Amino acid sequence: MPRMTVNERPLEFAMNPETPLLWALRDAANLTGTKYGCGTGDCGACMVLIDGEALRSCLITIAEAEGRFITTIEGLSRDRSHPVQQALVAQQAIQCGFCTPGIAIAAAALIQRNSDPSKEQIEAAVPNLCRCGVYPRLVAAIQQAGRVSRRQERISAAPAPGISGEDAARTVPAMVAPDVGTGPED
Ligand code: FES
Ligand code: FES
Repeated sequence: MPRMTVNERPLEFAMNPETPLLWALRDAANLTGTKYGCGTGDCGACMVLIDGEALRSCLITIAEAEGRFITTIEGLSRDRSHPVQQALVAQQAIQCGFCTPGIAIAAAALIQRNSDPSKEQIEAAVPNLCRCGVYPRLVAAIQQAGRVSRRQERISAAPAPGISGEDAARTVPAMVAPDVGTGPED
């Protein structure tokens, strides 16, 4: 049973060792921030940090992840205070948000090794697909995140802390199927 450290917690997955890491994170560890986009290594929605490198978790089995240190979007920061998270919000570089966790992971890995990346370096290091087309704002956000990480700039409007578990569990009326009954004898 493959063992690894996920968001600083030791985990052991009682699963087939050939299971993609993406499935183990989402379905067994309940870390659903990492997204399934294509499953074939093309979109980057499933990126996580593995020993500090942004990699596609749909292409890595849990056997291959054995003994490694995994960071998912949930572990990037506990309160969305990571410079990349703050800058993505500040630059409004999020539309539907499906690609955002993978992009945040790739961008975090980039500014960790290069806090002043050029547009070309960002395009090479953050190849993630975004069907909403946030690319121009993405470059601005990642360069701002670099400045924040170098303490050359502060983002005053930090994103709000995460919603409470209570709120997340609250019934959303729009998602509840209407009760249409089963027949005239209802
Ligand atoms: S889901 Fe892994 S690259 Fe698209
Ligand atoms: S914001 Fe919608 S896919 Fe990127």
